[in-house]
Amino acid sequence: MKIVVNEKKAKNEVKVIFSQDVDSTCLITGRKDDVIMIKTEKVEQMNRRKWALLIRKIVGEIKKHKIENARIVWNEITAYKNLGENLGEVFAKNAIIADYEFRKYKKRPKEGWKDIKKIVIEAKDKDQAELKKSTKKGTVVAKYINISRDLANTPGNDMTPKILASETKKIMKNLANVNVNVLGEKQIKAKKMGGVIAVGQGSSNESQFIIITYNGAKSKSEKPVVLVGKGVTFDTGGIDTKPYPHALDMMMDMSGGASVIATIGALAELKVKKNIVVLVPAVENMPDGGSFRPGDVIKMMDGTTVEVGHTDAEGRLILADALSYAKTFKPQKVIDVATLTGASMMALGERAMAVFTRDEEFAKEIIELSEESGDFAWRLPLWEEYEEEIKGKIAEISNIGRSNYGGAITAATFLHHFAKDFKKWAHLDIAPTMTSIEGDFLTKGAKGPGVALLVNLLDD
Ligand code: BES
Ligand code: MN
Ligand code: ZN
Repeated sequence: MKIVVNEKKAKNEVKVIFSQDVDSTCLITGRKDDVIMIKTEKVEQMNRRKWALLIRKIVGEIKKHKIENARIVWNEITAYKNLGENLGEVFAKNAIIADYEFRKYKKRPKEGWKDIKKIVIEAKDKDQAELKKSTKKGTVVAKYINISRDLANTPGNDMTPKILASETKKIMKNLANVNVNVLGEKQIKAKKMGGVIAVGQGSSNESQFIIITYNGAKSKSEKPVVLVGKGVTFDTGGIDTKPYPHALDMMMDMSGGASVIATIGALAELKVKKNIVVLVPAVENMPDGGSFRPGDVIKMMDGTTVEVGHTDAEGRLILADALSYAKTFKPQKVIDVATLTGASMMALGERAMAVFTRDEEFAKEIIELSEESGDFAWRLPLWEEYEEEIKGKIAEISNIGRSNYGGAITAATFLHHFAKDFKKWAHLDIAPTMTSIEGDFLTKGAKGPGVALLVNLLDD
């Protein structure tokens, strides 16, 4: 599907009309032009969050009626003065993510898919240039959000660490100034990444450590932003195995990795003038005769000893080593993204990811941009008092908390142990928004969280 500005009328084109006066959204045919009436709220009740959902609803309606070409009048939208800026970007992004379906395993129907071809935005001349620019940006961001959803939706048998690494290379292939380097198990061992080794050692699928660099800054020596993503291609829980049905969605436990891979792709395609490094430790958490065990003590890359209180708290173990490795890049900023805890979902529900950082300014910036990007986020505390919780009995620290409470904070506190030296660091626990929910107006499965927020945070 394409979002274009001011192109001429196509055959069988349907006009989208906003109306506060219809009972529900509907298609009206048989007039001179067919129209879709979209039920909208009063101007003063509209906001940016509702606007994003309305766009997805429009696309859902166009899809439902198998319409190939639609037209929308920009005037009607800009009447909502309270929606703020970049509406073209928001339109293109939400339309394209609402159009997404995961078809990898579906047979193409004989007559072909009945896809939306084009949505034309009809704008006044004075709005055109701006609109063209912003819809183009929204289109790029949405393309990469959908790429991250493809990676996350692919089941564990077809998305092993090695496949994730090879798919990453494919995604980056035609992007300028991007380089992908993948460490295999031998190199991971040589770097003494004890956490990555331990979590992956029960799986017959070899662990990988994916490193992507993008040099967009004027100078190669400009300090990079490092993005770290959890790449657990399947999380069974390990020896402390997840009971049914908790493992069912765990092919998406590499959503953090998918998110940062997609983000660097989008930033490179947008030719952002920054240096970016992406690190994705990719492992499969499997029980086996060779697995790591409850009670094991692991020596991490930075020398910290960690006792394994629970083999299902694996994400923090691989991320800790990735954070230690991140130090070699002397980053100006580090952000890690992970489907880290069920506890973050307990705390926030399924509508906002959790943000952790001790940097007040950074927290404020992230929360503000989360609202703007549609990747909603909310802050949880990371006070040093919580460090008590992860003290080890025989090792320095443990990978689970002493109490049963505040598990999202315990996990963030564990990561902080390895991130304390960074000037600016934030951790995004995206478990709450890993999958779409009813009111999202998106297809079921991976939602692609983090990409839109990170692109807005890092673009020029
Ligand atoms: N990948 C899971 C967290 C998760 C759960 C993400 C549901 C998305 C949906 C993570 O590895 C995990 O298992 N965490 C445990 C930690 C506990 C053992 C301390 C959890 O949250 O239960
Ligand atoms: Mn787990
Ligand atoms: Zn996990």
